Amino acid sequence: MNTGPASPWIAPSILSADFARLGAEVDAVLGAGADLVHFDVMDNHYVPNLTIGPLVCEALRRHGVQAPIDVHLMVRPVDRIVPDFAKAGATYITFHPEASEHVDRTIGLIREHGCRPGLVFNPATPLDWLDYTIDALDMILLMSVNPGFGGQAFIPGVLPKIAQARARIAASGRAIRLEVDGGIKPDNIGAVAAAGADTFVAGSAIFGSGDYAATIARMRREIEGVRCG
Ligand code: DX5
Ligand code: ZN
Repeated sequence: MNTGPASPWIAPSILSADFARLGAEVDAVLGAGADLVHFDVMDNHYVPNLTIGPLVCEALRRHGVQAPIDVHLMVRPVDRIVPDFAKAGATYITFHPEASEHVDRTIGLIREHGCRPGLVFNPATPLDWLDYTIDALDMILLMSVNPGFGGQAFIPGVLPKIAQARARIAASGRAIRLEVDGGIKPDNIGAVAAAGADTFVAGSAIFGSGDYAATIARMRREIEGVRCG
């Protein structure tokens, strides 16, 4: 079992896409070399912003999107909405443990509905939540900003936490994706990769650039640079 970083995945966050042209935007980033679609769900309750729900996920599937969809739930409660996202075509469903009354139950619910579960850690959330859950997870998502908005600055204090999460994955012996979300740009993605991440969310850095393919290619070169060097 390979428990080091897997092949790098670039996950554009559609939070920064042009929502009036969402299907075309998702086609464009996938055509530009993205690996999965990061889908931010905010409820104006757990986080102070409001975005999109299962109807939009289903619309992307109907539009023809076949890439994995990485649903990042920033909602409370969590369980009510999980079956809806499974039905709407989610691949991964990640949630914040503070937002769930029964974390193990929520992980099981995601799995029972045929999706891949993940836990999300805010910048100040300790990795202790992994103690009794890691064997049931397919993804660990570390926030490098406080959740709620795109376009915030990367918090560098998360870098040692990425290394700690990588060590926990190695000790688990399981192939768990280690994803980092918030403020990732071409000029800091190398440091995130060097710390042990293999899945990279980027919203404003990709959708705010004039050339999606060039930005994603530059991100891949930066990742390969630290992995080979
Ligand atoms: C923040 C979201 C992120 C956000 C990332 O709560 O979870 O996915 O869209 O956007 P950037 O890359 O602009 O920080
Ligand atoms: Zn996110």
